[in-house]
Amino acid sequence: AIQGFIFDLDGVLTDTAEWHYRAWQRLADEEGLPFNREANEALRGVSRRESLLHIIGDQPYSEAALQTMMERKNRYYVESIQNLTPQDVLPGVIELLDELRQAGIKIAIGSASKNARTVIEKLGLADRVDAIADGYSVERPKPAPDLFLYAAAQLGLDPSHCVVVEDAAAGIEAAIAAGMWTIGLAPAVSGASPEEHRVGAAHIVLPNLMGVHLTDLQ
Ligand code: BG6
Ligand code: MG
Repeated sequence: AIQGFIFDLDGVLTDTAEWHYRAWQRLADEEGLPFNREANEALRGVSRRESLLHIIGDQPYSEAALQTMMERKNRYYVESIQNLTPQDVLPGVIELLDELRQAGIKIAIGSASKNARTVIEKLGLADRVDAIADGYSVERPKPAPDLFLYAAAQLGLDPSHCVVVEDAAAGIEAAIAAGMWTIGLAPAVSGASPEEHRVGAAHIVLPNLMGVHLTDLQ
C-alpha cells in the first residue's frame, strides 16, 4: 500500500515555474541569447546549471561567466518570489495534503530548487510536510533517481511504497528510475500537446490536483 507522497514543488504545489521561466528569459535577453517560452519547456524541473548550459548552447563562456550568470538568474528569481503568499498555493493542494495526513501517509517535497525551503515557508506549507529534499540534498539532479530516493529515506519508506507528483519529464523519469509510482500533472488540452507529452510516461496523468482524492488514486 501507499505510505508516502513526494511532491515536486515548482509547477505542482505553486506556479513558480512561470517565475523561473521569466528569470531565464530576462537573462537570455540581456545576453542576446535566443530563448522563448517554447524553448523553456525543455528546462522544466531541470537544475540551474543544466538550464543555463541548455540556454547558452555552444557559446564559449568561461566557468566564471557561467557562475555570474547563474547568480544573476537566481537574483531575478528570488526577487520575483518575495511576494509569494499562501494564496499562491495551487487549487486542491491543501485539501489533498490534509487528506493524506489524516490517512497517516507521510509527505515530502522533492524539488531540484535551492530556493525550495524559502518557497515552502512563504506558501505556509512547512507544517504540512514531514521532509524536504531540495537542491542541496544530492549531487546528481533529476532525471537521476537520487533526490526522490533521498526523500523516501528521509520519510523512512521503501521507494515502492511512494508516489511522486511531478509536472516535468525529468521528474517523472527520476521517479520511475527510483521505482516509485508517478502522477504527472499536465493541463488538459486537446490533441497531442507538448504539455501532455511532457509527463506522458507517468502512471496517471491529471490536469492538476483540484478535486483529487486519495481514494480515487488507490
Ligand atoms: C526546479 C525548477 O524545481 O528547480 C527549475 O523546476 C529550476 O526550473 C530548478 O531550474 C533549480 O532551481 P533553483 O531555484 O535552485 O535555481
Ligand atoms: Mg516542477
